[in-house]
Formats: sequence, C-alpha cells, structure tokens
Amino acid sequence: MSLLHHVTQGPRALATDNLVALTANPNEVHPLKPYKSLEADELNARITAVRQELGDRLMILGHHYQQDQVIEHADLRGDSYLLSESAAASKTCETIVFCGVHFMAETADILANRPDKLAERNGRRVTVILPDMAAGCSMADMAGIKQVEAAWADMAEVIDTERVIPVTYINSAASLKAFCGRHGGIVCTSSNAAAVMEWAYERGDRVFFFPDQHLGRNTALTMGITEEQMPVWDPYEMDLGGNSEQALQDSKVILWKGHCSVHQMFRAEHVHQFRKQYPGIKILVHPECPREVNDLADVSGSTGKILRTVEQSPPGTKWAIGTELHLVNRLKAEHPEQEIHFLSPVVCMCATMYRIDLPHLCWTLENLRDGAIVNQIHVDDETTKWSLIALERMLAVK
Ligand code: 13P
Ligand code: SF4
Repeated sequence: MSLLHHVTQGPRALATDNLVALTANPNEVHPLKPYKSLEADELNARITAVRQELGDRLMILGHHYQQDQVIEHADLRGDSYLLSESAAASKTCETIVFCGVHFMAETADILANRPDKLAERNGRRVTVILPDMAAGCSMADMAGIKQVEAAWADMAEVIDTERVIPVTYINSAASLKAFCGRHGGIVCTSSNAAAVMEWAYERGDRVFFFPDQHLGRNTALTMGITEEQMPVWDPYEMDLGGNSEQALQDSKVILWKGHCSVHQMFRAEHVHQFRKQYPGIKILVHPECPREVNDLADVSGSTGKILRTVEQSPPGTKWAIGTELHLVNRLKAEHPEQEIHFLSPVVCMCATMYRIDLPHLCWTLENLRDGAIVNQIHVDDETTKWSLIALERMLAVK
C-alpha cells in the first residue's frame, strides 16, 4: 500500500436526507448493521480482499484526520489540497472511496469528472463514494447558499459588488463554490489561502471570505490587512450582517461568521501553559484556530504543512500541536524521537470525520464489488460547471 502523503466532500441536505431514509422505517434492519458486529480483524481482511480484487480501478483517499484503522487502508492520504489534486489526476481508477467529509467527496466528484478527464476516458465517469453520508463538516454547514446570496444582495446596497471577489474555503458545499465561479471568485484551501487572496486583489478591491472567519482573518493579517478592515458578516443579523455602511465601505475583507468547532477549542492560555511548563517548546497550529492562538504560534499551516514540519525537525524537538486529535496522535506514534503534545486539555476531535469507520468502509466496498453503489456523491451538472470554474482558478494559482 502506498503511504504517499497525497490525496483529500457535498450538500448537507443529502446527508440529512440519507439519515432520514435510514430511519424512515423503524422495523427495517439497515444493511450496515451486520457489519457493526464484526471484529476489526475480519473487517480488515474483507476490506483488503476487495482492494486486491478491484486493484487500481479503486482508489481510497484518506484525509489526515481519519482514524488510524481507516487511514491504513488509504492508497493516498493528505490534506484537502493534495487530495483534490490527486482526485483531479486520477487516470486508471473507476471509483474513489473518499474517507473524509462530504465537501471533500463533492470536490473529488467535480474534479475527477471534468470535461477533459471524461474525454480521456471516452466519457466514463469516476464514481465517488462517501462511506457514511452523515460525515459532514460543521463549518461548511455554517454557510448556506441562500444565506450567502442574501448577504451578497444586501452588501450590494452599500458597496460595488462588481469589485468584490468571493473566496470560499474548500470546506464548503459545492453550491458555494459555484457561487464563486459565477461571480468571478475562487476556492482556497488552508495551504494556498494567501496566494488565492493575492489573486483576488489583482482582480478586485475587496474579498468576501466564507465560511471560516479564522482562516480568512489569519491569512489577511499576514498580508498587512488590519482587523479594522475586516468586518464580520453575521448571517443571523438582519441589517448588513450586523455592520455599519461605513465599516463595509472601509473593508478589505468581509469575513463570514463561521468557524470550525474543533479548532475553536484551542486557546491562548493553552499556549502560555505549554511554554511555561516546557521551555523551548514550539507551537504548531492549523490556521482555523482563532487569531490569538495563531498569532502566538511558531508555525501555522495546513494539515500537510503540520506533518512536513514535524517530519523535517531534528530529534528532541518539542511540539504542542493545535489541530485534530487523530493527526496529532499519529504524529506522536510515528515520531517517538520528538516530544509531541496535544495543545489542549480538552479532546478536540472531528466527530464527523470519525463517522467513517471500518464497518462503513467494508460495507461500501463489498457493495461496490458486488455491483451496487451505495452512498454515491454526485454533484448536479449546473453546480459542477460553475464550481469547476472556481476550483480550476484555484488549481492554477501557484
Ligand atoms: P486541510 O486543508 O489542512 O487538510 O484541513 C482540512 C480541514 O477540514 C481542517 O479542519
Ligand atoms: Fe470541518 Fe472542522 Fe472537521 Fe475540518 S475539523 S472537517 S473544518 S468540522
């Protein structure tokens, strides 16, 4: 199995529909149920058998936040950026099983089935499967397309939206990516946010950044933009997202009031405590952390950058890492020559990523082998067309 650090989700309405469907008839036993009572050894053997049988027609992608027992079955693992690139590059595979969250599988569906790729395969589509449809992203759910469209229309009353470039973090539903495609905007990930913002300022005066206020703020601060130039748009405030006309007119970035429930848990006092208790310790965080944590950190970056930073550090280096627990625990196990701590006394794990487990993986794979596609993520043509424009702009930014 390749453990290359390559690799990398859709509308939550789908996830909810699926849940409703699963529970609609209380007397019906869901076909997943028998898998839930199997031992890990048996599940591993059965997953391995399907992987061997399907060979390179199957690609299992795993995000760094997946639990170890799932990541062990991934052909490629990585951060969102690398995962979307590898989905785009897939040549031989017929099916991608995405061990990540819904927006990642959506992105894979869009990129793996873009027109040039379809032409190379004589029109054959790559099927994308998300082992558990309830594996969503709470941050992505904080910005609905109707809310974003309403905000865009409201801000047009006081600023010229022709000069506003919408930038959506990849952690968003495909409909938001499509919004950006339609309005001259772009997608970013945590590894290219600054370059994407620069791209945006070459084309407009302001950025409308959603759904993560922290990534937007932390990135803009590195570009010399001040907090005063970054009003926060609260979709639940009736009047201009809770901002004055002047604040919007003076803005450089309009930040959506969204956040990651996992990274929101890291606090400045955790940084201070670690520095006091372990002199010389370095603080390494994901830019979804709040500003006060990001500012105090020695290094901030995507999950891929966090991994590379530890891999490239000399033995004896002490780290307190502020990102999802499974990734930090894996780094601890893989780098016993370094001293790695989790930057919070509270367990911060991504509960939705954690929904992908061996029973779901085995169930979807065995169905696939038997010719039944369960939990397919398929973005509709119109949304695909416009999201692809925004995603291709991102992939072209270096
Ligand atoms: P990366 O883009 O760094 O992989 O992060 C994805 C994510 O969901 C972080 O919470
Ligand atoms: Fe979404 Fe946060 Fe989970 Fe990342 S860690 S997938 S942003 S909820």
